[in-house]
Amino acid sequence: MKRLLLIGLALAITTGTSWADGDAAKGEQTAKQCLACHSVTDTANKVGPSLLGIVGRKPGAAEGYAYSDPFKAYAAAAGAWDDATLDAWLKDPRAMVKGTKMTFAGIKDDAVRADLIAYLKTKN
Ligand code: HEC
Repeated sequence: MKRLLLIGLALAITTGTSWADGDAAKGEQTAKQCLACHSVTDTANKVGPSLLGIVGRKPGAAEGYAYSDPFKAYAAAAGAWDDATLDAWLKDPRAMVKGTKMTFAGIKDDAVRADLIAYLKTKN
C-alpha cells in the first residue's frame, strides 16, 4: 500500500513539472538576460519595450516605444502574445521577425524557454 502511494506521488510530481508548465522560479534566473534591455516590473521602456503584462498583450503595444518597421508589420497581423508565439520569438527572434531590432540570439533549450515564459506570466 505504502509503495503504491509513493509511486502515485512520484507520478503526480513528474506530471506537475511537465514541459508545458515551466518553473517560474527557474525562469526568473533566465530573465536576467533580458533585464539589460527590458523592464518586467514597470512600464518604463529601455532599449527594448517594457515587458510588464506581456503574456496576453498585443505585440507592439508598449506605450511610447518606437518599434522597428518589421516588428510593426508583424504586430499589425498578429494576435496577443501567448505561449506558442513567445516560445517561437524567444527561440529565435530574428527568424520570427526578419529585421527586428531585438539583437538577442535566442534560447535554444525548450525547457529553459518554458520556465522563462512561466516567469513572464507572473509579471502582470
Ligand atoms: C540587446 C537588447 C535585448 C535583449 C537582451 C532582449 N531584448 Fe527583447 N526586445 C529588444 C528590442 C530592441 C525589442 C523591440 C523589437 C523591434 O521593435 O524590432 C524587443 C522586443 C521584445 C518583445 C516584443 C515586445 C512587445 O511589446 O510586443 C518581447 C516579448 C521581448 N523582446 C522579450 C525578450 C525576452 C523575454 C528577453 C530575454 C530572454 C529579451 N527580450 C532580451 C531588445 C532586447
